[in-house]
Amino acid sequence: MENNVKLKMTLPDIPDIELVAVEGLDKMARHLGISDEKIGEARILVTEAIINAIEHSGKEKMEVDVEFTMTKEKLVIFVRDYGQGFKPESVEEPDILKKMGTENKRGWGLKIMKSMSDDFLIESNENGTKITLIKNLV
Ligand SMILES: Nc1ncnc2c1ncn2[C@@H]1O[C@H](COP(=O)(O)OP(=O)(O)O)[C@@H](O)[C@H]1O
Ligand SMILES: [Mg+2]
Repeated sequence: MENNVKLKMTLPDIPDIELVAVEGLDKMARHLGISDEKIGEARILVTEAIINAIEHSGKEKMEVDVEFTMTKEKLVIFVRDYGQGFKPESVEEPDILKKMGTENKRGWGLKIMKSMSDDFLIESNENGTKITLIKNLV
């Protein structure tokens, strides 16, 4: 890829560490002249993916690997954890009416990631989860 900017990091399980990754993403995007609107959406995608990874990390290896590859046209986000994994197809779709009530407000992360990205892949097994998000930046 031409003018490809890449950032790779391993995040420890400490409070608010996702902000470090988001800040790195922001710096790369501004360097490449990406629009504020796309940067805002990319920040949300990354935040949701990393928070899920941290929350569901295994007790053995509470680390999250993050990789961003960016050109002026496209961002590829890769996040992996070493948690217990899950079956994406068995996650229930969140229901706005229920969420407006007293029930918990959780469960929007995957839906947001699906709708804000242009492509979305989850690979998960008992050794952890890898999520790849593609976002068009133009
Ligand atoms: N990285 C992950 N590892 C294991 N389970 C996950 C992971 N990401 C998501 N899940 C599962 O999918 C569910 C839905 O995720 P999400 O839509 O982000 O909602 P929330 O994080 O608020 O529960 C989670 O509750 C969890 O059971
Ligand atoms: Mg979540």
